[in-house]
Amino acid sequence: MLQPAQPDRNIALEMIRVTEAAAIAAARWAGRGDKMSADAAAVDAMRFVLGAVAMDGVVVIGEGEKDNAPMLYNGERIGDGRPPAVDVAVDPIDGTTLTANGRKGAVSVIALSERHTMFNPGPCVYMRKVAVGPRGRGAVDINATVTENLKELSKRLGKPVQELGVVVLDRPRHDDLIAEVREAGARVLLISDGDVTGAIATAWPNSGADILFGIGGTPEGVIAAAALKGLGGEIQGILHPRDETEHALAVAQGYHVERVLTTDDLVQGDNCYFSATAITDGDFLKGVRFTEFGATTQSLVVRSQSGTVRTVETFHRHNKLQEFTTAGF
Ligand code: FBP
Repeated sequence: MLQPAQPDRNIALEMIRVTEAAAIAAARWAGRGDKMSADAAAVDAMRFVLGAVAMDGVVVIGEGEKDNAPMLYNGERIGDGRPPAVDVAVDPIDGTTLTANGRKGAVSVIALSERHTMFNPGPCVYMRKVAVGPRGRGAVDINATVTENLKELSKRLGKPVQELGVVVLDRPRHDDLIAEVREAGARVLLISDGDVTGAIATAWPNSGADILFGIGGTPEGVIAAAALKGLGGEIQGILHPRDETEHALAVAQGYHVERVLTTDDLVQGDNCYFSATAITDGDFLKGVRFTEFGATTQSLVVRSQSGTVRTVETFHRHNKLQEFTTAGF
């Protein structure tokens, strides 16, 4: 009789500790108006816990170039060097301004995939994106107009365009986009930051969000792709150089700037992992709560191969917190 295979390691479960640590460290700074300190605390904590993970990781998406980012810089080796060999994308805080202002929606995130499967954004800071959840997968085309996409999505989801919730980053560059969405009859759900969570919302049951449009960070697009793979959704992107110089640099480095990047281009293969822990309250996760005994966190953990989606609430004892936060609050 065929024996069921032994369950293999789900490294995403180990990543929960990583994003939890970063979120707790960042949350110490929530509402204190100091983005830099919040980010530094989250990076330190994330790196501290990552060092203990059995893996041979290379940071593909980190805090930037080595000279400007002493830790979690692009190309940095992390983990203890043992297999699996993985590409790593970190965003210790997606929503640094949200954190500094004590606003909702800041998360700490990490994504892992097999070595050489993660898209390297290089000099391309921004990407135009469209993202949908599992039911909308295959119904959108980034090269079609917003109106066409909304009509197709409406057919696919079986709900009128008027009922569609469209997530858009609140930026002047999106004025025309927002006008077109409203003209088409759909609802605009503006977010002030955090388009990783915005993309995930499209795949989250009853979030009210059906699709995300607009220009946001390329690193955030790759991380969202890892999350959406596990959640069964889809993201498409087109690189969006900010000016001629960035365009020329991208082309010189071999990037095809007009090309549509699919979910599979952003993260190849079917073995990627994603973990997010809320720093401040969000639509589907509660932010860090400090109590006299310690802190509680809520995280979302996804593995694409199995399609398992977990939400995890963790209590952290006071003495544990001191390991990964040096802020003296
Ligand atoms: P940070 O936390 O790194 O500041 O990023 C927040 C964010 O809102 C991302 O989620 C988004 O992709 C990007 O910034 C948009 O960039 P910009 O603020 O320059 O429009």
